[in-house]
Amino acid sequence: MPKIALLGAGRIGRIHAANAQAHPGLTLSHVVDPVAEAADAIAAGTGAAVATFEAVLADPEVAGVIVASATDTHLDACLRAHAAGKAIFCEKPLDMDLGRARAAAGELSGARLLLGFNRRFDPSFQALKARLDAGAVGALETLQITSNDPAPPPIAYVKASGGLFKDMAIHDFDMARWLLGEEPVEVFAWGSCLVDPAIGQAGDIDTARTLLKTASGRLCVIANSRRSGFGYDQRIEAYGSGGMASAGNALESTVQVWREDGAQADRFQNFFLDRYREAYRLEMAHFAEILAGTAAPRIGYADGVAALALAEAAGESLRTAGPVRL
Ligand SMILES: NC(=O)c1ccc[n+]([C@@H]2O[C@H](COP(=O)([O-])OP(=O)(O)OC[C@H]3O[C@@H](n4cnc5c(N)ncnc54)[C@H](O)[C@@H]3O)[C@@H](O)[C@H]2O)c1
Repeated sequence: MPKIALLGAGRIGRIHAANAQAHPGLTLSHVVDPVAEAADAIAAGTGAAVATFEAVLADPEVAGVIVASATDTHLDACLRAHAAGKAIFCEKPLDMDLGRARAAAGELSGARLLLGFNRRFDPSFQALKARLDAGAVGALETLQITSNDPAPPPIAYVKASGGLFKDMAIHDFDMARWLLGEEPVEVFAWGSCLVDPAIGQAGDIDTARTLLKTASGRLCVIANSRRSGFGYDQRIEAYGSGGMASAGNALESTVQVWREDGAQADRFQNFFLDRYREAYRLEMAHFAEILAGTAAPRIGYADGVAALALAEAAGESLRTAGPVRL
């Protein structure tokens, strides 16, 4: 059974550790994190050993590395893991800097690297993609992606995140590329700080609307906010020549109450750990297939670079208040 190591024992690292441990084809053997308590907690819960990254890279029995550490460590960790012959499952984004990410093409474009755009593994979004590919709405014309977090992250996370476009909207840029089936060639973005002044003081925005246009003229609007107040709001609508297809939010329960004064439904599932629980499990199962040699990565280095290019273009559009051609 292939041994794998986890780099980064934070929020998402804990999810990946649990899914790796639960997968019958994987053994989580090592966990690496400079914060000893974080590494110790995962080690205690899984039986993995706390280690340094150097020790992981030098261990020939470790076949793969999950890179779930802070964003500014991803690219370097991928390069080192690839040089050591490991398969990689790297969280988004690939890097904060498009130039640096592109410069790694020589090493990483052929690497066994799965990029963590987990929404492609979400069963509802997979079903939506299958319907679109089967022509259920005819020729796809426009797409609307709504992606609102329930509440802003801690300001320390915001400062290390790379900003809303590279940290949050990057998922939506990937969904847009995947569902449109065509590369966007033009980007226009507006952004504001409406939710938390501290985010603005850190030089970031917390609210955005981004418009993408493909070469054939397909349009996509991406709506992002760091606050919804009513749960994690993740919806997609796809309009085509023959109709509209949508995938909506998952609710905490399907209970609805009707009374004389109106109706009440349960809240949307709280956040990504709930909404994408199954997607993270399926994503780890795909990494197990890559390690077993039975599948090539469905999302790789090129997808990471392409989404980052859209994020960088959105940032440039915001700064220049005009459209940016890719
Ligand atoms: N795909 C998703 O749905 C999703 C969700 C959340 C976070 N993420 C991504 O995962 C990454 C981590 O996010 P998080 O929310 O878990 O953050 P977090 O702050 O909770 O955890 C990050 C961990 O990485 C550790 N770390 C920092 N530098 C390290 C290094 N050089 N080596 C090893 N560990 C190191 C930190 O000590 C911390 O424990 C970010 O890049 C984020 O964009 C993806």
